[in-house]
Amino acid sequence: MSTPPRCLVVAGARPNFMKVAPILAELDRRGRPGVLVHTGQHYDAAMSDVFFEELGIPEPDHHLEVGSASHAIQTARVMEAFEPVLLAEKPDVVIVAGDVNSTVACALVAAKLGVKVAHVEAGLRSRDWSMPEEVNRLVTDRLSQYLLAPSQDGVDNLLAEGYPKESIHFVGNVMVDTLLNNLERAKQRPILKELGVEPGGYAVLTLHRPSNVDDPETLGQILEAIRHVGTRVPVLWPVHPRLRGRVRHLGLPQSVRLLNPAGYLDFIALQADAALVLTDSGGLQEETTILGTPCLTLRNNTERPVTITDGTNQLAGTDPTKIVFLADKVLSGQTPPALRPPLWDGHAAVRIVSQISST
Ligand code: UD1
Repeated sequence: MSTPPRCLVVAGARPNFMKVAPILAELDRRGRPGVLVHTGQHYDAAMSDVFFEELGIPEPDHHLEVGSASHAIQTARVMEAFEPVLLAEKPDVVIVAGDVNSTVACALVAAKLGVKVAHVEAGLRSRDWSMPEEVNRLVTDRLSQYLLAPSQDGVDNLLAEGYPKESIHFVGNVMVDTLLNNLERAKQRPILKELGVEPGGYAVLTLHRPSNVDDPETLGQILEAIRHVGTRVPVLWPVHPRLRGRVRHLGLPQSVRLLNPAGYLDFIALQADAALVLTDSGGLQEETTILGTPCLTLRNNTERPVTITDGTNQLAGTDPTKIVFLADKVLSGQTPPALRPPLWDGHAAVRIVSQISST
């Protein structure tokens, strides 16, 4: 087992936390703990603290407290606050994960200071340039020396874009490490009982993509379909803060139940026993694939095609007729068979740290 270089690990938003937890644990296990920087892109207790507590992530060494703002301002604030931290800590490698604004901001600062960047979740492509995350993914990959791909399609995309083979490493999906490590604990949670739902007797909805929730017409279309799903099973909807304040005016029936954002363990428990998950999130497409829960993705594209070919995911788009058609099929028991994508095996963090340590 080789000793890792000095690593600085960046986490900023909710989907980062479950990705950095196993990497930090693996760095610890090898006797070279990472320096953890929380940018503060997500800051509500329900969007941040609960993940640190439940996943045993240590207190960040640096908290940049950037908060919410426009894309330009948020990205700029992260860059401005991150630069002195990087200069003071002098790591050999900066590890960034996923595709949020904090990911690209810290990668850019590191690249300009000549520090190597390792991108966890490299190579994913939706080919939808209007999606802020697609911009973040492409730019972050371009700035990275270690391109750590979760799936073969990621490797193929990077090769097609001309990246050198030596910098591309198929390491598997680190979010699955966290999921498998915590599944038994999640299943102990009394959340279903608390909400009064039975295993297999409810659907879960999440929505947060600006293209879905900020455009009233698209949101209206999606909710038309959700009202229909609600006539068959209760729909549990943990509401993202982006929609807070608006949802109560949408005239939803009682069968669509609005919840506060859930913690990690409760949310895994809810996904595991749901009859159906409807979502525009990237991470949920992956988690449902591992849990074997049918997933309808409320988008016209996905950067995670392996969840369709090898998992339980189907692209439903935002047209209510199509969503209703697919939801009815799933609720009548016609569900795609669940396979497990290659290297989604709970050992991605070991491969990530080995890779960074070997070159
Ligand atoms: C961000 C990521 C997205 C990821 C999502 C997961 C980018 C470009 N987007 O989107 O890729 O899928 O996180 O949630 O990085 N807010 C709060 N409290 C918080 C955080 C946000 O109230 O702790 C509210 C604010 O009104 C804020 C809005 O949510 O303006 C959006 O937050 P932001 O971080 O800009 O984007 P997300 O939609 O969360």
